[in-house]
Parts: sequence; C-alpha cells; structure tokens
Amino acid sequence: MRLLIVDDDVSLRQSLALLLGDSGHSVETEGDPDRALARALAEEFEIILCDVRMPKMDGLTFLRRYRASEGAALLIMMSAYGNEDAAIAALREGAYDYLPKPFRPDEVTITIRKAEERERLRREVETLRSNLGMDVVRDLVVSESRAMRDLLELASRVARHNTTVLITGESGTGKEVIARAIHRMSPRSERGFTTINCAAIPEQLLESELFGHTKGSFTGANADRAGLFELADGGTLLLDEIGELSPGLQAKLLRVLEEGEIRRVGGRESRKVDVRVLAATARPLEQAVENGSFRADLFYRLNVVRLHLPPLRERPDDVPALLAHFARQAAQRLGHPVSVTPAALTALTHHSWPGNVRELRNAVERAAVLGGGGPLDSKDFALTNGTGAHTNGATASANGSLDLKSQVEVVERKAILRALEASGGNRRQAAVLLGVSLRTLFYKMRRFPTAERMQERKDQQPLQ
Ligand SMILES: Nc1ncnc2c1ncn2[C@@H]1O[C@H](COP(=O)(O)OP(=O)(O)OP(=O)(O)O)[C@@H](O)[C@H]1O
Ligand SMILES: [Mg+2]
Repeated sequence: MRLLIVDDDVSLRQSLALLLGDSGHSVETEGDPDRALARALAEEFEIILCDVRMPKMDGLTFLRRYRASEGAALLIMMSAYGNEDAAIAALREGAYDYLPKPFRPDEVTITIRKAEERERLRREVETLRSNLGMDVVRDLVVSESRAMRDLLELASRVARHNTTVLITGESGTGKEVIARAIHRMSPRSERGFTTINCAAIPEQLLESELFGHTKGSFTGANADRAGLFELADGGTLLLDEIGELSPGLQAKLLRVLEEGEIRRVGGRESRKVDVRVLAATARPLEQAVENGSFRADLFYRLNVVRLHLPPLRERPDDVPALLAHFARQAAQRLGHPVSVTPAALTALTHHSWPGNVRELRNAVERAAVLGGGGPLDSKDFALTNGTGAHTNGATASANGSLDLKSQVEVVERKAILRALEASGGNRRQAAVLLGVSLRTLFYKMRRFPTAERMQERKDQQPLQ
C-alpha cells in the first residue's frame, strides 16, 4: 500500500515512516499540509495519516479539501489528548478512523491493517462492479480482440465519471456504439442518450438545435424552444463529427463545457445544464488544430479521455464474433438460421474491410438475404471492395426531367428492381434489402406498375 503521513512534527513523521516501512508499505511524509494536499491529489495513495492539529491547516480542513477534490484514499486522523472532538468531527465527515496520540506501535499497525483490508475490499467491489458494467453492454458491443477489450475496460472506467470523452476512429469502426456503451455503463443510464451530427446541419440551425432559441430571435423563430443541451439534461449528448463545428460554435461549446450553462439564441439569462458530453470524429482533430480550423483549447477540453477505435483490419480477432453477432441478428429478422462456411470465415477474417464494422454488417445482411438457405460461402459475400457498383450518381428521369420528385422515383424504381432481382423475386427479402417495410415496398411497387409487371415476368424465369 502507498501511505502518506501528514504531520508537522518531524520526529513523529520519521518514527511512523520507519514503523510502517518495516511492515512492507511504501511510505511518504509531508510536514506542510498544503504541499501534502497537492501530493495527495496528484499521486495515488491508498491511506493517508493526517494530524488533526497543524499550524497552517488543521486536519479537518485537509479532509474537507481532499474530499472536495474527489480524493479517494482512506484518511486516518491522529489527535493528541484533548482534541478528540475534532477527530470525531472528522469521522463524521468521512475520515475512516482515528488514532489517539500518543500511540503504541501495535495500535498503529492494527489500525493500518484494518484500513488495508477495507481498501482491498473496496477495490474488489470496484472490479466486480466494472465487470458488471461491461455486462450490460455485452449485447451492444462485440469485443473479442485484445484492443477492443482494453478499450471497453477503459470505457467502463470513464463511464462512472462525468468527463468528456473524445472518440476517434475511421468511419464504421463503432464510435457511436462505444458512446452508447459509455452511456449505458454510466450512472446516467436511466436518462436519455441523444446524438447530433454536427456536419449535417447548417451553422445557424445547429446553434439553435444545441442551445435553443427565444421567440423572435430570428426569422421563423415563432416560439421559445429548448435546445438539445436542455432536453438532454441529466443525460448524455454525443456530438458526432465534432471536427465540422464552425469556429463560432466551437467558442460557444467551450463556454458551455467550462461553465455548465447555456444561453438560448436571442436569450438573456443563462441556464444551468447537467449534460455529459461525448464527442466523436473520424477526422484527426490534431491536424485540424494545427491548420487552425479547430480551437486548441476546445480540443484539450474534449480530449480529457481519448478512446481510439482501431480499424477492423487491425483487429481480425473481432471478425468471427462480429460475424456471429450479425448473423444472429439477421436470422432473427429473416426467421431462418444463418451460418457461414469455414472457408468464408477465413476469407472474411482476412478481408481488409475499408468500411469497417458497418461494411461487415451490411455484407452479412446482404448475404443472409440472398444466400440459398444453407451455410453462406465466400461467393455469397460481395467482397470486391469495388466502387460505384451499388451507388447511383445523378439520374435523369426517362423524359430527361430534372424535377426532383421524378428523379427520386427513377432511383427508387431502379433500387426496387435490383432488390427484387437480388432476392429472386421474394418481396419480403427485397424489403429487408431495401431497409423498408413490406407495406412500403408494396405501396411503391403499386406506384411503379412497370416494375411490378417486369417482376412478374421475372418470377416465371429461373434466375441464372
Ligand atoms: N464492436 C461492435 N459490436 C457490434 N456492432 C458494432 C460494433 N462496432 C460497430 N458496430 C456496428 O457497426 C455499425 C457502424 O457503427 P457506428 O455507427 O458506431 O460507427 P461510427 O464509427 O460511428 O461510423 P461513422 O464514422 O461512419 O459515423 C453499426 O451498425 C454498429 O451497430
Ligand atoms: Mg457515427
């Protein structure tokens, strides 16, 4: 155990240090309470022995300041005859025990041994609790690889505190998943988890989205409206793609983080909010700081804890477990078992997955829908990292019209046809592929009679 002895009496410090050092503890001593407090907070001690009466700062004040700064060590107060009241007051305020001076060596060692036992129990409970914490996200985050397990471990530890966390990693690596996991493992788990994509909304709207606005603060602001910070009060807010935040909003966010208060756009008074902020970015923020597009002070404020998700190709150990996870989900949705051949498993594990976990999930879903029913083989997965095959650029409608609605209809129709083709005419599977309900698919097919007619022809032909 690491012990700190705080007493202005040098001979007492020395004899205690000798005694406790002999029983195998690592012991530090401080005569000056201010310096002792700074060290107690900066270094990790398990037990602190503190005198009740010291000239510069009494022991009770030491205890209060130490606790106020969230110091976690066990405090044992030492008091001379006649100062018991102070020692008892200290006990009431959270000191662990007290030793009346003068003390015999065995009194000291027994008290310390008791504290040690208590500290060991506390740690055990903490480990159990953090394992429990990880249990509640087992269905959410697959973590087989060493890298992911370490990351989740760290996430479970930071979850308990209110620190901001910066989550980085390529697109599709699971940044949002980790953010949700932190929320779920946190004391705020019963409250809301809100996410907003900072890149998707124009600056002015985003400001009012985040902080709210008052009636008349801009054209269209017809009523007072609360922003996400107010709505997420007590909960967790994920600011996604934080790197895209405009300089003006960066400054405002920094103020909110420092002061815990927001002001609605056009509003006068500040409101206290209690929101745990998580931020995510696929873009290296350090670079943005270097080229001046992201404020350094905000970066440091967000980067208190950093969780970096490695790309999937750097943690192939996760692939089989992720595969099983997504296959289970697909099986549940489709109502039939979904499995994978050993050869496919090998191929998938060695694939480079430029789109990371998201790409793997989509590949499994697609293969599960299109596969013939037996275990899925390599050829059931479209592993060609090809580009453009599944995406459409701008499409003009048949009559060359640039009208948005008719262009959208063309795209929809193509997509529906392709899905029907891919599912061998099975509309239920086509709907899954398209990510729409069967009803929506029927509805859309009725609006495109040609699609249906072509489909009916297809139904009568075997697919090659
Ligand atoms: N460890 C994991 N366990 C289970 N599912 C995962 C895991 N990581 C990612 N996923 C799934 O992969 C998909 C992409 O994850 P997520 O949206 O969290 O990625 P992201 O890093 O936020 O991507 P982007 O930068 O594009 O927003 C989601 O469907 C998510 O459920
Ligand atoms: Mg995301």
